[in-house]
Amino acid sequence: MLKHSAFVHLLQIHGEMEITKARFAGSAASVAGKPGTKLPEFAFIGRSNVGKSSLVNMLCNNRDLAKTSSKPGKTVLINHFLINEEWYIVDLPGYGYANRSKTEREQISKIIENYLDNSRELEMLFVLLDSRLPLQKIDLEFINSLGEKGIPFTIIFTKGDKLGPNALNSMVERNKKSLLEYWEELPPVFVASSRTKTGRKEIIDYIYKVLQLIQ
Ligand code: GTP
Ligand code: MG
Repeated sequence: MLKHSAFVHLLQIHGEMEITKARFAGSAASVAGKPGTKLPEFAFIGRSNVGKSSLVNMLCNNRDLAKTSSKPGKTVLINHFLINEEWYIVDLPGYGYANRSKTEREQISKIIENYLDNSRELEMLFVLLDSRLPLQKIDLEFINSLGEKGIPFTIIFTKGDKLGPNALNSMVERNKKSLLEYWEELPPVFVASSRTKTGRKEIIDYIYKVLQLIQ
């Protein structure tokens, strides 16, 4: 059974925050090339096309901040966005896009691995899962690898607008159950929609709770 000592249970901490300033701070193929100013980082990862860049834009209330596309494989570098001059959102490339060449897939895997293994400023990794799908093997393997690396993570089910409330709820519950076959307890789980902005307040509040905790 995987166990995570770093799960953040913060219900007792209060405080409501907003993202008022967000700007692109740079793209890099490795941690060596990330912005020079060291600040806490909150990164977004998941399969290609799951909605990482759209979620970053939704959180920042800026549709043009991160590049999005209906075709998978859009984000290919580590992208830093400076938020409120005090922390970074990091938009990562997606894993598991089958239509890429083998060389490209290996490049992307290296970039992701380099970031996860070397970014000392990473405070929380948000793993995005498509709310319409049962847990995919590649996502499960990725999430379980985070246990081995000791990286604190939180799960966000994306595209929540695409299912009705009952179907959404039963898929989320089903996927939580699947994860509990491997994990003793689960990290916080959010449902989001970049279309309707569902989950925005909860995710931003959560980030600020983590920031309070590490101060
Ligand atoms: P890569 O950068 O290729 O790894 O993809 P990504 O995970 O950054 O996905 P991206 O944000 O580019 O979105 C992929 C597609 O999903 C786009 O066509 C988005 O418009 C769509 N999409 C993203 N989020 C949502 C959502 O919440 N609801 C709906 N209906 N569509 C979404
Ligand atoms: Mg992207």
